Amino acid sequence: MTEVLFIVSHPLDSTKSWSRKIGEKLLASYREKNPSHKVTTIDVYKEEFTPLYEKDLTDMMTGSPTKMLPWAKQFAAADKYIFVAPLWNFSVPSQMKCYIDYIMQPGIAFRYTEQGVVGLLKEKKAIFVGSRGGFYKGQPIESMEMAESYIRNVMKFVGVTDFSSVIFEGASALRGADLEKASEKILQEAAALGAQF
Ligand SMILES: Cc1cc2nc3c(=O)[nH]c(=O)nc-3n(C[C@H](O)[C@H](O)[C@H](O)COP(=O)(O)O)c2cc1C
Repeated sequence: MTEVLFIVSHPLDSTKSWSRKIGEKLLASYREKNPSHKVTTIDVYKEEFTPLYEKDLTDMMTGSPTKMLPWAKQFAAADKYIFVAPLWNFSVPSQMKCYIDYIMQPGIAFRYTEQGVVGLLKEKKAIFVGSRGGFYKGQPIESMEMAESYIRNVMKFVGVTDFSSVIFEGASALRGADLEKASEKILQEAAALGAQF
């Protein structure tokens, strides 16, 4: 059975978060098209993933069970990923970064070989759903955006090259009818992407 992970990194609900609202719209559309698929939500704020401390690295180096292992295995076993994150200080919220630190386990997500690093998560697909206060696409500050580009590069590293994004830009800059129009457009885009994911 196709397994989807809906990985959401926002402390607020969808009435107060554009990224969560857009992500949920995309997921609803996906579910409508694929009612038999198994969807698991990973709400990284509810799970309270913590940074990697000395004990975690020691466990890794000595081959002891780590707090990361079950999450890395769950990630590797899934077929599709939907990441949801707002742009915070040019990147993803730190809870999402912690989650990435959990799933990026050598031998599960990637492997070191004599030819270099090889991603082990082939034949999988990912979508990034984001929201930004300002405008970045095609702007001089484009390279300062490190949320979507971070998740895209992490996925590429582990072998997931089928990667799409739906991103609401200008959430803090737009007002009134402009905000309404832009948000409607992005919600439609999200629904369309969810239906063909
Ligand atoms: C802690 C914090 C940091 C933010 N940093 C940025 C930023 O670096 N660039 C930007 O364009 N907007 C920034 N914003 C604005 C958010 O990206 C914007 O409000 C976006 O809609 C957040 O998604 P959300 O509606 O799901 O919360 C920040 C907002 C917060 C609360």
